[in-house]
Amino acid sequence: RDNFIIAIDGFSSCGKSTVAKAVAKKLQFVFIDSGAMYRAVTLYFLRHHIDLTDTNEINAALDDIHIDFVPHTDKVCILLNGEDVSEEIRMMHVSEKVSEVSAIKEVRHALVKQQQDLGKRRNIVMDGRDIGTTVFPDAELKIFMTASPDVRAGRRFAELLAKGELVSMEEIRQNLAHRDHMDSTREESPLRQAEDAIVLDNSDLTQEEQLQIVLEEYEKRK
Ligand code: C5P
Repeated sequence: RDNFIIAIDGFSSCGKSTVAKAVAKKLQFVFIDSGAMYRAVTLYFLRHHIDLTDTNEINAALDDIHIDFVPHTDKVCILLNGEDVSEEIRMMHVSEKVSEVSAIKEVRHALVKQQQDLGKRRNIVMDGRDIGTTVFPDAELKIFMTASPDVRAGRRFAELLAKGELVSMEEIRQNLAHRDHMDSTREESPLRQAEDAIVLDNSDLTQEEQLQIVLEEYEKRK
């Protein structure tokens, strides 16, 4: 492999995708939000009332799902079977179900495969939960991000508010705790820090400071 892969993992709402996007822009790498893929599958499952205990139904659904990323000047849109679902996948009804859906073995196998294909022959920054452990265990640079629970809930609150979705801080805290628990305790590629990952606690760091830290690590390895 002669391409460079940067894997950014961590708990929910730690600011992974903000850093990942900034790094990708600076280095002219392709940014891939793996969480958006799990969210798109979840949205499809919700719309089609997929029974999460029925493997045949799940496999048929996965066969019918096609996910694309389309870059625009200032953002990347995610398409689910041709429909732009970038906004809807961030809504609370999807967040509430995504960790159940992403714990399903068949779902993970299908998405991990697609993620690995996206990382072939090009330089990428991918953020998620299992990128440095399962998707790209040989990634050239692995970052594991953390932030205090209050900082995380505050950020998510502001994000949802900006989109006009009024959710209480308490609901957000509960959703983050629920997802962290599900994501770290599931059997299939649970969220955990890769041994060779650099830990980045960004509770007290600006976005620029975080970007600089990742770029320094990149310079050491390129
Ligand atoms: O990154 P984001 O918070 O949008 O991810 C939504 C959910 O998707 C996570 O809570 C987790 O359940 C799942 N996910 C995952 N593996 C990844 C990325 C996301 O299981 N690589």
